[in-house]
Amino acid sequence: MKEVSSDFVREEFIEFFKSKKHSQIQPASLIPENDPTVLFTTAGMHPLVPFLLGEKHPQGKRLCNFQKCIRTQDIEEVGDAWHLTFFEMLGNWSIGDYFKKEAIEFSFKFLTGKKKGLGLPVEMLAVTCFIGDKDCPKDNEAAKVWKKLGIPAHKIAFLPKAQNWWGPAGLTGPCGPDSEMFYYVGKEKPLKKSNPGTDEKDWCEIWNDVFMQYNKTNEGKFEELRQKNVDTGMGLERTTAVLNGFSSAFETDLLKPIFDQAASLTKLQPEIPEVQKSLRIITDHLRAATFILGDEKGISPSNVDQGYVLRRLIRRAIRHARLIGIEENFTVRVAQKVVERFKGIYPELDKNHQRIFEELDREETRFKQTLEKGIHLAEKEFSALQKGETVPAKIVFDLYQSFGFPLEMTEELAREKRLEIDVKGFESLLLEHQELSRKGAEQKFKGGLSDHSESTTALHTATHLLNEALRRIVDQNIFQKGSNITAERLRFDFPLDRKLTAEEIKKVEDLVNQKISEGLTVEIEVMGVEKAKAAGAQGVFDAKYSDSVKVYTVLNSETQEVFSREICGGPHVKSLKELGKFRILKEESSAAGIRRIKAVLEK
Ligand code: SER
Repeated sequence: MKEVSSDFVREEFIEFFKSKKHSQIQPASLIPENDPTVLFTTAGMHPLVPFLLGEKHPQGKRLCNFQKCIRTQDIEEVGDAWHLTFFEMLGNWSIGDYFKKEAIEFSFKFLTGKKKGLGLPVEMLAVTCFIGDKDCPKDNEAAKVWKKLGIPAHKIAFLPKAQNWWGPAGLTGPCGPDSEMFYYVGKEKPLKKSNPGTDEKDWCEIWNDVFMQYNKTNEGKFEELRQKNVDTGMGLERTTAVLNGFSSAFETDLLKPIFDQAASLTKLQPEIPEVQKSLRIITDHLRAATFILGDEKGISPSNVDQGYVLRRLIRRAIRHARLIGIEENFTVRVAQKVVERFKGIYPELDKNHQRIFEELDREETRFKQTLEKGIHLAEKEFSALQKGETVPAKIVFDLYQSFGFPLEMTEELAREKRLEIDVKGFESLLLEHQELSRKGAEQKFKGGLSDHSESTTALHTATHLLNEALRRIVDQNIFQKGSNITAERLRFDFPLDRKLTAEEIKKVEDLVNQKISEGLTVEIEVMGVEKAKAAGAQGVFDAKYSDSVKVYTVLNSETQEVFSREICGGPHVKSLKELGKFRILKEESSAAGIRRIKAVLEK
């Protein structure tokens, strides 16, 4: 059978929806415009939020496109057959035009249509619908349409919000119940009783129709939208794979050339499961990194926001390359393949290829230096041990904690020296560490202000205000490089390559004092680090954060307008009314490229 290309699927999708009176819209940047709720475009709907909320779209009420997307919440899962951090999404939208019935009919026709469509056999398909809860009733309406089209009842699973609800990755905005379409990828023929609710592993999700009929507010309420919308997203990699009967996304023409390029750099057999896993991680992560670097927004690896995600992707790819014996700088060679493969569809990759390669190479060299230091330490510790002895858990943990060595890498180094590793001990240290930091956070949380003198707490909150004011008035890229608070004053270090002007200092003071006089409130929420990032929280996202973090938001409780949002241990005041008058005492250089501000709160 001739391989069906991803280009065919992409074009066929657009043509199908154009024939159903949809206008094709341009793919957006990977970095969302004016949307502080997410770091990356995670779905084609992001740029459409204002229109889903009621604004008129210049291209009409029926739209379609293909969109580059990044999702990092499942980064640890990458390496299996289907998970990806970068993928392309095919989407069609109704902005207050058609709703459930037509959307499902379009989806079904495109999936199964022989002339116009993909011609997938109905018996290989199953769907899920929303089971219903206090916010929204069970979606019998969607199920009824599926049944009418020929999906038998036993292939329709009803699932709760965790599966069958879609909202933007941020915390608020348009959302609603969805109905997802799955293709059977199990080994046996689809069993009569099998569906995505009962046999998750055997069914691969390929498309999602969201019925956007609510707006989630800042208080977590679901308000009915006046306008009912449809937002759909079909995964190009997955759909191309199942159409060809492949058992993983990495066999498609979207990933295979890159995988093969990476595989050519190791002497190990790509079929060995551990090698295959590392190659898949390298393929996915460097494809994602190439697209982020190639985006017009000019993101570079760093310790904050998109730059942090980019750094994490590149470094993870490098670690896995090491695991399979790739020692030389290799990221550029993989990225060259990505550019070559995708420049026809995404011309920005070609335009920015120089930048992509330079940034990758620089980050690779930088990371290797940290790795070298860790390896140096490991070798020193290991040399004190005899063959066959066990490396104490504490050393394994230090390497993990201070040098970002994953367990497998320390294991590999130990193996070379014929040493064992205390894996159990390492795991219990890790657990202990996670529990301690969680407990620490809880205790602080419970203890609140009583543990800290009032004035340091107030200065702590003032530090967040100062950080945000500097970002708004001086430079958006400013972040907290260091902070030190005594009962008398705050000290704040931030990167900037010049002195602040007297005018800037005055404006920063004024903005902080204006927010204080507005009496904004400080809200706290505990959430996963990924969610915090997605919510646009400031903070240094590195390995030292345990799974859950505290996010402090300074906002106007009436209008819900957010002034600042930061990941922070706290504590903070509840209302800015308690702060007094903010005054900057001094602005000076603290190190090359770092400025230091000392400031006080006067009663
Ligand atoms: N926004 C929905 C999703 O990402 C449909 O595109 O699944």
